[in-house]
Parts: sequence; C-alpha cells; structure tokens
Amino acid sequence: MSDAPILDGIHTIEDLEAASDFEKKHTPHIDVDAGGDRSVVTISVGHYVEHPNQPDHYITWIELFAGDAPIARFDLSPAVTDPVVSVAVDLEPGTELTAVEHCNLHGLWAATIAL
Ligand SMILES: [Fe+2]
Repeated sequence: MSDAPILDGIHTIEDLEAASDFEKKHTPHIDVDAGGDRSVVTISVGHYVEHPNQPDHYITWIELFAGDAPIARFDLSPAVTDPVVSVAVDLEPGTELTAVEHCNLHGLWAATIAL
C-alpha cells in the first residue's frame, strides 16, 4: 500500500473562476446538507459545465474521502446514470472531504471542502 498523498497525479483546480470549461466540466462539486443527525454529502460532476455522458466519454466512478480515508465509492454506467451521487455520513464538523472522479478519457479530478 502506498503512503503517497491521495491527490498525487490527480487534477485539482485552485481557482474555478479562472478555470477553462474543460477544467470546470471535470471538477467535482461537493454539497453538504447538515440538517439531520447525519450530513448528506452530494457529489456531482458537470455542476459547473455539463460533462458528456455517452459510452465513448463518461464519468466511470466517483469516490469520497474523509481526510485520507476512502469512505464511499460509486461505479457509474454511461447514459443510464448521471454522475450525481449522495451518501449520508457521520463525521466531525471540520473534517476534510475530498471527492475524486474518473473520466474515461481525461483521467482523475478532485475537489476538497471542509465539512
Ligand atoms: Fe471527460
């Protein structure tokens, strides 16, 4: 098992305002609904700019990390599933959440927020 940081080799965008449409369509968007006893984390790809969702170009999977720990993974199919996934989590406020997505043509992209 590697002890390399999880974001090694993964595209991350520092300034979405200045990002290209290509970068925006691949950068995961993380939304948190902290209304109940669990927080519901929703990750969407294509939030900023729509990403293709066809057999030759689509988001193959999305993973969620709490700090460096993987806590959820979603495998997706082109056309029949949209790259929008949600999971309820029980984590301390302030926990760093990182979403990583894989595009079959354009590789790995990530975004990080604090819960
Ligand atoms: Fe792509």
